[in-house]
Amino acid sequence: MKSKIIAILNQKGGVGKTTTAISIGAYLAKKGKKILVVDFDPQGNATSGLGVEDKSLMATLADAIDGHKKAEEVIYKTDLYNLFIMPGNARLASSEVELAGAQEREFALKNILSGLQYDFMLIDCPPSLGLLTVNALVASDSVLVPVQAEFYALEGLSQLLQVMQQIRSRLNPDLELMGVLLTMFDKRNSLSGEVYNELSSDFGEKLFQAVIPRNVRLAEAPSYGKPISEYDKWSKGARAYKKAAQEVVKRSEGYE
Ligand SMILES: Nc1ncnc2c1ncn2[C@@H]1O[C@H](COP(=O)(O)OP(=O)(O)O)[C@@H](O)[C@H]1O
Ligand SMILES: [Mg+2]
Repeated sequence: MKSKIIAILNQKGGVGKTTTAISIGAYLAKKGKKILVVDFDPQGNATSGLGVEDKSLMATLADAIDGHKKAEEVIYKTDLYNLFIMPGNARLASSEVELAGAQEREFALKNILSGLQYDFMLIDCPPSLGLLTVNALVASDSVLVPVQAEFYALEGLSQLLQVMQQIRSRLNPDLELMGVLLTMFDKRNSLSGEVYNELSSDFGEKLFQAVIPRNVRLAEAPSYGKPISEYDKWSKGARAYKKAAQEVVKRSEGYE
């Protein structure tokens, strides 16, 4: 079995990448899949959002990037069965600087993940198109792009697609766009509907049918260190992410 590796990427901050990684990871785990969330953002929000405290950790992803630890040594259990985290923290920022001078600098994450056996690995990317993100795109089979339903939502998307195209032509010919996931949708705001229509006409089938509503329970869950599936499974946000996770399974069937 080959692991399916998905980069969750948008170079903008605050669009729902981390929430998507944690929530979809949790629902895939609950469906019986073995899941690794890779926290590749120096902000470490996926790590804390899954209830793992940075101070308690012996080693993190930065140690694996630096070559001091093996992949298996920087993987931790979460409270949810089948859901594992490779934690990230501020040290990833220095790893990125050091990596810049290294040989095969674009392949560091791919090499770390390549020997691991999971059904899915979800890479929570930093909000940039720098070297860490390039590593994520080289390591991945496909890319899931959360897009926030707001005025500037589509700005930057063409640049993101361009970078993906460059990665395809130079470093990872098989990289696919899994899809675009609309987040923080507010049905009382006509702008949200406009963003939906625009994404639908630009991306067609690549737009996820699941739409993630703006939902306060999703914003609260990380402070309890729980995915939304455990924090409030009946909330609108939870139900939407459950649907999105089902779509991830369906959409990933093409990437072997
Ligand atoms: N659908 C949503 N409804 C309400 N708040 C959300 C939603 N998705 C994310 N948030 C909150 O918005 C902020 C940014 O989301 P986050 O997932 O951290 O984005 P990113 O990882 O892209 O920076 C966080 O405080 C998060 O809890
Ligand atoms: Mg984040």
